Amino acid sequence: MEARKILIVGASGRVGRSLLQQLLATSNPPSIRVSTRNREKATFPSNVEVVQGNLEDTSSYPELFNAVDRAFIYANPRTRLPQLLSAAKDGNVQYIVLLSSMTVEFDPKSDIGKAHVNAENAIKESGIAYTFIRPRNFSSNTCLFWAPIMERTGKLWMTYPRSQTAPVSEDDIAAVALVALTTGKLHNQAVPLCGPISISQQEQVEAINRLRQREGKKPIDLIILPPEEWKAKMMSWRKDDFDPIFADQLIAWWKENEDRPELIQSSERITGRPSQSYEEWLELNKDAFLKD
Ligand SMILES: NC(=O)c1ccc[n+]([C@@H]2O[C@H](COP(=O)([O-])OP(=O)(O)OC[C@H]3O[C@@H](n4cnc5c(N)ncnc54)[C@H](OP(=O)(O)O)[C@@H]3O)[C@@H](O)[C@H]2O)c1
Repeated sequence: MEARKILIVGASGRVGRSLLQQLLATSNPPSIRVSTRNREKATFPSNVEVVQGNLEDTSSYPELFNAVDRAFIYANPRTRLPQLLSAAKDGNVQYIVLLSSMTVEFDPKSDIGKAHVNAENAIKESGIAYTFIRPRNFSSNTCLFWAPIMERTGKLWMTYPRSQTAPVSEDDIAAVALVALTTGKLHNQAVPLCGPISISQQEQVEAINRLRQREGKKPIDLIILPPEEWKAKMMSWRKDDFDPIFADQLIAWWKENEDRPELIQSSERITGRPSQSYEEWLELNKDAFLKD
């Protein structure tokens, strides 16, 4: 299948940026349009078309999809899905790769689960061919949620330290999206995805501490708290932006996965290349964990 114009929504984000780089590095790069909510802020290579686009703003939908035949999009709970998909059809979009989530499989009734289920169902019902990439726990969650606490306090509070996941890297998620967009091999499939090695939360912190010690930094002090104390600590730390319902969902998930290795469904089965372990990802993203 020959690619014409491909739209990447979220090309300034972790997965979208990696997908853009991987598409541009192919031997015969397709014509690419990227969208951003803020053209002034985001920078992109000069050989891609940039449009202003917002999944929450219906007026931006026609420009997103005009003359696009395949698209990579995110699941955003405030997207007007009927209008979005109608604009996609008007633009003659043939194929949509959705960055979905494995919550569709293990917790579809949670807020996060519902947002992804709704997006998947709407795309299926539209009749446009699709691939739903369903990652579980991103390796970058430690960069997003742990690194700022570590940097400010030198500590990390945790509950259920023996809870396991196989964290998946943004590059491996993007590599699966690349296969989907450039080969058509994954048409009308859902692709559950995790990393290649199951590891506990505590082992993730130990990996960070090995890195810090190697780079001459003080190790992070890991403080284990009972669930309710952890929740109270996080509520006081994150104040307005920590949702107690989300905290309870996390606690339940960690409890369920204590000492329970994740079933490995890594990107290697799709790409044929080894997937990044958490430690490999950490090495590539080490700067975020070396600040004091
Ligand atoms: N974290 C996890 O463990 C996990 C697990 C499963 C699935 N997921 C999914 O992965 C996604 C996060 O991926 P990521 O780490 O690549 O995200 P990210 O780095 O936060 O990037 C998000 C991108 O989406 C764009 N964006 C945000 N709001 C938008 C809107 N209203 N309209 C259009 N574009 C918008 C942003 O672009 P601009 O700012 O330039 O517009 C940004 O480039 C989540 O949506 C979640 O559904 C996450």
